[in-house]
Amino acid sequence: MSAHNTSQRWGWVAKTLHWVMAVLIIGLAIVGTIMANFLNDMALQFELTQQHKSFGFVVFTLALIRIAWRWFSPAVPTEPEGQPVWERVASHVTHYGLYALMLIMPLSGWMMSTSSPLNDPGAYPTQVKNMVFGIFELPDPVHPANETLEKAFHMIHAYSSYLLAALLILHIAGAMKHHFILRDTTLRRMLPLSKVGK
Ligand code: HEM
Ligand code: HEM
Repeated sequence: MSAHNTSQRWGWVAKTLHWVMAVLIIGLAIVGTIMANFLNDMALQFELTQQHKSFGFVVFTLALIRIAWRWFSPAVPTEPEGQPVWERVASHVTHYGLYALMLIMPLSGWMMSTSSPLNDPGAYPTQVKNMVFGIFELPDPVHPANETLEKAFHMIHAYSSYLLAALLILHIAGAMKHHFILRDTTLRRMLPLSKVGK
């Protein structure tokens, strides 16, 4: 199995990045929505938020690697034959949107957190440091806190997650249409261990 993409299938690097990130991003979106809106247990909410920030940082790092890899290993699968122009445009717009959101989601989350008063020394109940898995702290550029910025980035974070959900519905529906209706190789050439293409 080759690392590089070809015109017929994705290489293992792109496939691994795609599926690991898919699990992380869908998980972050679902758990993020629950922890921010539907929890009464403050301690659990706090703990989930810290984990959310750490996994969000992992997504950001993987997104940079993925975009760099897309640049260095650019031969990507060609469009299925006879694909209408509107479908090609729709899939490209969706893919670019998803790439953009892989960066916008973590960046807006990080800016929201660093702008929060909870992040300032002496904050009640205790200063929240934006630790990544307790190993190192994210840079804290907004100091002292700025609640207007915090609200603005919270809005960007939340509204971007709605856009993410909408694009993902289109994206997954597209993949299902290719697989079950058009019966072409679009889904299989992205699946791990699939033997499709050279
Ligand atoms: C791909 C990455 C990410 C996704 C998909 C994501 C998704 C979400 C979603 C859907 C919410 C709920 C928003 C709401 O309804 O108010 C949320 C909340 C939150 N996110 Fe993220 N997030 C990501 C990365 C990050 C990162 C990297 C950070 C910080 C370093 C972060 C910090 C937060 C915080 C602090 C909240 C809670 C806001 C509150 O309690 O009201 N997120 N996230
Ligand atoms: C069950 C969920 C998912 C399925 C079934 C799925 C399926 C696919 C398939 C089949 C492709 C290859 C398209 C082609 O070869 O033309 C693809 C590409 C892609 N997927 Fe997903 N995907 C899923 C989740 C996600 C998630 C959560 C994200 C990110 C937020 C994502 C982002 C992308 C991007 C950006 C591409 C385009 C790659 C490129 O052209 O560089 N996918 N997906």
